[in-house]
Amino acid sequence: MARKPPRASMHPSAVADPTAAAGAGSLVGPEARLGEGVRLAPYAVVDARCRVGEGTIIGTHAVVHRDVVLGAGCVLGSHVVVHPGTTVGDGVVVGDHAVLGKPPRLRAGSASAREGIAPLVIDDGASVGAGSVVAAGARIGRGTIVGDQAFVRERAIVGAGGVVGRGSTVDCDVTVGDRVSIQTDVYLTARSTVEDDVFLGPGVLTTNDDRMGRAPLGPDGEPEPSGIELRGATIRRGARVGGRATLVPGVEIGADAFVAAGAVVTRDVPPATRVIGVPARPAGEVPAADRLRD
Ligand SMILES: CC(C)(COP(=O)(O)OP(=O)(O)OC[C@H]1O[C@@H](n2cnc3c(N)ncnc32)[C@H](O)[C@@H]1OP(=O)(O)O)[C@@H](O)C(=O)NCCC(=O)NCCS
Repeated sequence: MARKPPRASMHPSAVADPTAAAGAGSLVGPEARLGEGVRLAPYAVVDARCRVGEGTIIGTHAVVHRDVVLGAGCVLGSHVVVHPGTTVGDGVVVGDHAVLGKPPRLRAGSASAREGIAPLVIDDGASVGAGSVVAAGARIGRGTIVGDQAFVRERAIVGAGGVVGRGSTVDCDVTVGDRVSIQTDVYLTARSTVEDDVFLGPGVLTTNDDRMGRAPLGPDGEPEPSGIELRGATIRRGARVGGRATLVPGVEIGADAFVAAGAVVTRDVPPATRVIGVPARPAGEVPAADRLRD
């Protein structure tokens, strides 16, 4: 005999607009609020004190943990997980299996600070692709697209109107400006700075540790992890870096500079300069017509 699907379960202290609808087996926790026209697909969970803005759709088996704010007109795919306290603006689209606000789990002795991580904030109109992970403490700017299977770590700030390409990683404590195009499979290492209007071609690789994790020895002859100095890349406004280029720790790419595909950049690149090769050497100026206008 066919079993009836389980009913939606709404905590008595939750408040749902009469036009909101909750599918079979969905759960709405204490003091949660569902706005006008909200749709919960079967088995979606909205935990305690969440606020869900009007017209937002939450996919099947998605779990929205406690104290999350979802704006109006958002679409969350199936199996999305939103960790506690995350704030999502209006009109944000989140692909299937994405994880938002994931708390970091660091190895013992990791150089990445673990204290005081704020919840994730995703600004209006941004989108996060299927299978992506955006950590707690990060911020994704207005209208920015994070591609499928991308990874944005704690305290990374990504500005407005940009793209983080499929499979790319923006590591912790990285700042990315507005309108930055990060193509597929880019690795932006911790403590890097990328200014507005930068273009990073596919597979661009930045590095930050010349000692490759081997701590220098302290006065007592023991390794001192605090002696490892991490130096990320600095990529100035409007610079363009070609596919698979590699930047060694601490280099600065000047404004409007151009790094050829496959170059290994071992020295700072002056503004509006073209560099090419392994190691990268200057090869003329970037034509005025190719530079950003103010
Ligand atoms: C630098 C680049 C624009 C080519 O510049 P170019 O001035 O047209 O170069 P040319 O094709 O005229 O080649 C000039 C010489 O440089 C060499 N060369 C060209 N590109 C090179 C590169 N990336 N690295 C090393 N040498 C390169 C050529 O082999 C040639 O050498 P030769 O004179 O000994 O034969 C191109 O290689 C490049 O890096 N494009 C960026 C593509 C990219 O990553 N886009 C990202 C989005 S998909």
